[in-house]
This record gives sequence, structure tokens and C-alpha cells, in this order.
Amino acid sequence: MGAGTRVCAARRGGLLSWTSVLLLLGPSSGESWVQGAPQVDFQERYFEQILDHFNFESYGNNTFLQRFLVTEKFWKEGTGPIFFYTGNEGDVWAFANNCNFILELASVEEALVVFAEHRYYGKSLPFGVQSTKKGYTALLTVEQALADFAVLVQALQKEYKAENVPVITFGGSYGGMLSAYMRMKYPNLVAGALAASAPVLSIAGIGDSRQFFRDVTTDFENYSPECVQGVREAFRLIRDLYLQQAFDRISQEMGTCTQPSSDSAINQLFEFARNAFTMITMMDYPYPTDFLGHFPANPVKVGCDRLLSAKNRIQGLRELAGLLYNASGTEPCYDIYKLYQKCADPTGCGTGPSAEAWDYQACTEINLTFDSNNVTDMFPEIPFTSDLREKYCFDRWGVRPRKSWMQTNFWGNNLKAASNIIFSNGDLDPWAGGGIRSNLSSSLISLTIRGGAHHLDLRGSNPADPISVTEVRKLEAEYIHEWVEAGRHKQ
Ligand SMILES: *[C@@H]1O[C@H](CO)[C@@H](O)[C@H](O)[C@H]1NC(C)=O
Ligand SMILES: *[C@@H]1O[C@H](CO)[C@@H](O)[C@H](O)[C@H]1NC(C)=O
Ligand SMILES: *[C@@H]1O[C@H](CO)[C@@H](O)[C@H](O)[C@H]1NC(C)=O
Ligand SMILES: *[C@@H]1O[C@H](CO)[C@@H](O)[C@H](O)[C@H]1NC(C)=O
Ligand SMILES: *[C@@H]1O[C@H](CO)[C@@H](O)[C@H](O)[C@H]1NC(C)=O
Repeated sequence: MGAGTRVCAARRGGLLSWTSVLLLLGPSSGESWVQGAPQVDFQERYFEQILDHFNFESYGNNTFLQRFLVTEKFWKEGTGPIFFYTGNEGDVWAFANNCNFILELASVEEALVVFAEHRYYGKSLPFGVQSTKKGYTALLTVEQALADFAVLVQALQKEYKAENVPVITFGGSYGGMLSAYMRMKYPNLVAGALAASAPVLSIAGIGDSRQFFRDVTTDFENYSPECVQGVREAFRLIRDLYLQQAFDRISQEMGTCTQPSSDSAINQLFEFARNAFTMITMMDYPYPTDFLGHFPANPVKVGCDRLLSAKNRIQGLRELAGLLYNASGTEPCYDIYKLYQKCADPTGCGTGPSAEAWDYQACTEINLTFDSNNVTDMFPEIPFTSDLREKYCFDRWGVRPRKSWMQTNFWGNNLKAASNIIFSNGDLDPWAGGGIRSNLSSSLISLTIRGGAHHLDLRGSNPADPISVTEVRKLEAEYIHEWVEAGRHKQ
């Protein structure tokens, strides 16, 4: 899930250069969204945040600076709701720049919009550049992050004299989990939540460890069974060359900077290659994006076309992987250690400080013991069991994952006592299989976007959108409108 942080080069400045052609249709008008989003200039600010919400001694009342973005552009002072994005594992600008649906909706509901950065990511570093080093990460927990958001919400309500307006949380992926948890943990503050592509079940260890890479495979299979055969073949050929000790040929054809001449090196190469498929599947949007990487429209199709038209299968794999690793077309060879760093998240942590922080989270609360097996998926067998995770995490961070804590603290699959949460998932998204896929009550709603990749619904409307995402956005708008109205009447 942290896969993108490596390439999450958020555009700075926050000026979304979209044309202002959104027709402002009330969600209850029953008419559909029209393409485009208003121009927004976010104010970038810092909030003096409590360092440790759950301990009155060890850190005294120390604070750190938490970054957040805010725009009053759509806000109707005094009565408009607050739309609050619960930031995930990366620079907050990346999310602000890729969630135009929230702005489109804000213009309809006249909302104050806030994007809050998650502690330990971006510029919200409690201990400066050391924050993500071993020994400084103890305060990096989901609970602390939620408490940050809650305290920030209250402070903003006070500052904007908006104590009585409804607050709606939004988030995608890990941010989607946080959005849902905000409603569950702080219903006093949050009237409702949109949790897009939030794998609340799989990260709590509920489900099948084979699901993720199986579903990545299914996306390619649905585009072209021949492509999946080609991928299997490429991996088989690499493995055969490795067994024949033809390391130079692997390196030549795959374009690696060094020859993979040990078991650990060939595994590194396999994981490096597998990660390209993960990202291509998550980012399989119908138009080009610069979100987690720089992808063309329909990258699954583009990748398969590359693979199938190459001189041979291994070179095909190399060119497919180039969608993630060589988008600039300037990589002379793949440095498989620099471009892909093994961590406690087999879907990738990225590189750099955000990747370290996410690795720590995957070693503590977030359980991502997914593996591939070359049977139910097209990838080489790469096990990642609980034991392997535990060993890695103890060696790397000196911590041991705590069994079932997420189920205790965030309710596991027993969410019935919650309310006013939309769980949306795209059927192309490999994370969908770890999320809520059925309606749990009249206000715990599960929506499926047919033809949608990772939280497509949060993105702004686009002429290339599948019909389904437009319909889902409309339903989301209707539910959120209801929650806002109900919240107003409580005043
Ligand atoms: C906590 O903060 C307050 C206000 O800034 C200060 O007066 C007080 O001395 C601090 N207490 C501790 C234990 O640091
Ligand atoms: C993590 O999830 C797996 C299922 O995918 C489960 O078997 C394992 O017990 C979980 N580990 C912890 C520490 O909760
Ligand atoms: C990256 O793209 C360039 C331009 O297409 C190509 O010449 C180069 O071989 C590619 N690098 C790798 C490692 O495939
Ligand atoms: C995957 O399984 C097939 C069939 O058992 C085998 O021939 C192939 O070598 C395996 N591929 C890899 C990369 O291990
Ligand atoms: C949940 O309910 C909504 C609204 O009635 C409906 O549109 C949606 O399809 C339902 N979801 C599932 C998974 O059945």
C-alpha cells in the first residue's frame, strides 16, 4: 500500500490547474456530475500537535508541527460542513492533488476542505529527519494519527467558528481506513465517512494471504489470458537461466545493472518485477496519471501489449516493468535494490523516509502477510508468512507484531455497531478483496465501481470515466448530503 511513496513526487504549490467548468448540481437534483473541477489554492499551514496523546508523563506536553492544507474557497461560513481528508502514508500534497472529487463535492455542499498530513510522513516529522530511524518510531501508531486528526478538527472548528457544523471524513487506501476509523472512534466529531479502497479486513489478518496477487493476476487475465501465459513464461525462463547459472543473460535481457547470481539476488529480481504488476494494476485508470508514478491510460493493456510484442519474453517483462521503473525513459539499467526495497509490505513500501515509516507500520499494526505461489497467481513463489514477518520486524525494528490487536481495537469484521460509513471499492483493485464488500446496515454501505482501479472515485470526474464510477460518485454525494443535512438539524 505504501508502494507509491517512492514515486509520490507531489506537485508543489497546490494550484490545481483545472478549468472551472463544473456545473454545480445539487446531489439531490439527481443529475450527474459534469467533468472538471474548480481551481483551488490551498493554504499550507502547520498545527502545534500533541506528541503523545496517550501518556501524560514520558513526553510531558511536548508538541510537533503537523502540516495541513486548507481552502475556504467553497465554504459558506458558519453553516457549511467541514470535509476532512485523513492523510495517509506520504506527502499530503499527493493526496490533495489527486482527490478532486472531494473538491467537486465541496463546491456543492459549500464545505471547508482540509487535507491533514499523517504524523511521520511528508513534513509532519515529530523528531525531524531522525523520525523514521529505529528508536524514534514509538509514536507512529494508527491511534496517535487518529487522535491528531481529532484534535486538529476541534481546533479548526474553534478557529473557524464552526463548532456546530457537521464534519465528514474522506480517505483512500490506508487513508480510507483512517477515515472509517475516525467515524468509529470519534462519532462525537465526525458525522460520516467515505472510506475508498480501504482494506480494513485484510490488514487485520482476516482473509486469504493469496488473495492480493491472485487478484492482480485476474486483472491481467481479464485483459488477455495470453498475457498471463507470457508473464509466467518470462518468470520461468529467468528461473531456468538462473539454474543454468546464465546470470549474464538474465542481466542482459532483463536490463539489470548487476548479474543476479545468488538466491537472494534472484528473489530480489522477482520481487522487483512483481511490484511493477502491483502498481500497474492499482493505477489502471482510463487516462494518464501522475499519482503513484507516471502511468499512461490503461497501463494493464499497455503493459501486456509491450510484453507480447517484445523480441522475447524476458525483454517483454523488462519493458512492462519499465512502465513503473523507466517512465522517464532514462534508466540505462535497473538497479533492482535501489528501485525496489524489500520490507514488511510485499506490495511495496517505496524508498526514502516515508517507506521507512510505512515499513514500521507494516511491522506493528498493519498486517500485510500476502504471498505469491505460481499456482493461484502468475508470479514466482515468494512466501511471506507470519513467522517471516515476525523475524524481519524484530531484526529491523526490534518489534513483534501483536496478534489480533487491530481486530480488538478496530473491530475486525464486526462493524455493525458503526454507522454512516461508505466503503467503496473498484473491481479492478487488488485491495478490494480485503475490504467491505456487502452492505452491513442501512448506513454501512458498500459500493462497487465496475471498471475502477484503486480509489478511482476520489479522483475528479473525467470524460474517460467508466459509467459506474459516475454512478457511485452520485450515490456517495447523496449519502454525504444526507449526513450533512442531519448534522445541521442537530444544531
Ligand atoms: C506544559 O505546557 C504548559 C503550557 O505551555 C506549561 O506551562 C507547563 O510547564 C508544561 N508542563 C510540562 C510538564 O512540561
Ligand atoms: C496476519 O494475518 C495472517 C492472515 O493473512 C494471520 O494468519 C496472522 O495470524 C496475522 N498475524 C498477526 C500477528 O496478527
Ligand atoms: C529505459 O527506456 C529507454 C528509452 O526507451 C531505453 O533505451 C532503456 O533501455 C530503458 N531501460 C531499461 C532498463 O530497460
Ligand atoms: C511455475 O510453475 C511451473 C509449473 O510447475 C514451473 O514449470 C515453473 O518453473 C514455475 N515458475 C517459477 C518462476 O518458479
Ligand atoms: C448497498 O446499498 C446501495 C444502496 O441501496 C446499493 O446501491 C449497493 O449496490 C449495495 N451494495 C451491495 C454490495 O449490495
